[in-house]
Amino acid sequence: MKGILLAGGHGSRLHPLTLAVSKQLLPVNDKPMIYYPLSVLMLAGIREITIISTPHDLPQIRRLLGDGASLGLRLDYVEQPVPGGLAEAFILAADNIGDDPVALVLGDNVFHGHNFYEILQSAAHDVDGCVLFGYPVEDPERYGVGVTDAEGRLVSIEEKPARPSSNRAIVGLYFYDNDVIDIAKNLRPSPRGELEITDVNQHYLRRGKARLIDLGRGFAWLDAGTPSSLLAAGQYVSVLEQRQGVRIACVEEVALRMGFIDAEACERLGARLPASSYGAYVRSIAAELA
Ligand code: DAU
Repeated sequence: MKGILLAGGHGSRLHPLTLAVSKQLLPVNDKPMIYYPLSVLMLAGIREITIISTPHDLPQIRRLLGDGASLGLRLDYVEQPVPGGLAEAFILAADNIGDDPVALVLGDNVFHGHNFYEILQSAAHDVDGCVLFGYPVEDPERYGVGVTDAEGRLVSIEEKPARPSSNRAIVGLYFYDNDVIDIAKNLRPSPRGELEITDVNQHYLRRGKARLIDLGRGFAWLDAGTPSSLLAAGQYVSVLEQRQGVRIACVEEVALRMGFIDAEACERLGARLPASSYGAYVRSIAAELA
């Protein structure tokens, strides 16, 4: 399975923070926002990842992550000159996806919760159609919203409905079979001029091939696209990290635990950050798992 990390857009709801700096490089507590969605793809076992962003922001992201080899990954970079919609990602990354299934994660989505590794592994395994994730929120009108019947089967998805018929948001993490490329290529832009991910998902739903996994109330799904949600995400991570003494979405640790790199390589990554507590944590994990 291949991965796409979509990290473009104008970040206009965060202006002036994002006038010079990519939204996905802003800090969420102790690390750049993009570490969180990147670690999600890694936990799903995905090592070949296409990062899509604007021509302005892509060089900064590349400076941070390089070719991914030090994390045991292969990272490719593709420009999205204009934000043409989430579904455009499959067209832009088509060459890199080839004939494989693919997972898409949005660069401003933060996930954290018990059993997430198992959930991701089960979603990534033998994808037939698409796998979507639902999460209860107080403001569903801001998201794609999933509607289920009495038996809990997904019956429709609406994009930012004025009157949502459920409080179940569809989160920014999607698993698809390879048909998604053709489906995306045949989409028409929505009234707001974008190729909508919800139209892709509706397509799978009509074919009876959309599976919904509900992320329970003990799970955290945060998006960090506004000043208050960015702060809330940072506070959430800070509280947990301080209380438990672990780091959330430490990509070096994930690479080590997933077997993408060995403890020696992890130690070297930590040693590159000698003055930071993040670097010390990476080194301590390398020592613990050596
Ligand atoms: O966060 C989950 C939601 O993401 C879903 O529930 C919705 O169904 C889905 O449409 C999307 O809604 P948003 O309104 O949050 O999408 P937004 O336009 O803000 O884009 C999400 C991220 O993707 C954002 O960080 C910018 C980036 N992006 C967006 C577009 C449209 C791109 O990189 N390229 C694009 O063309």
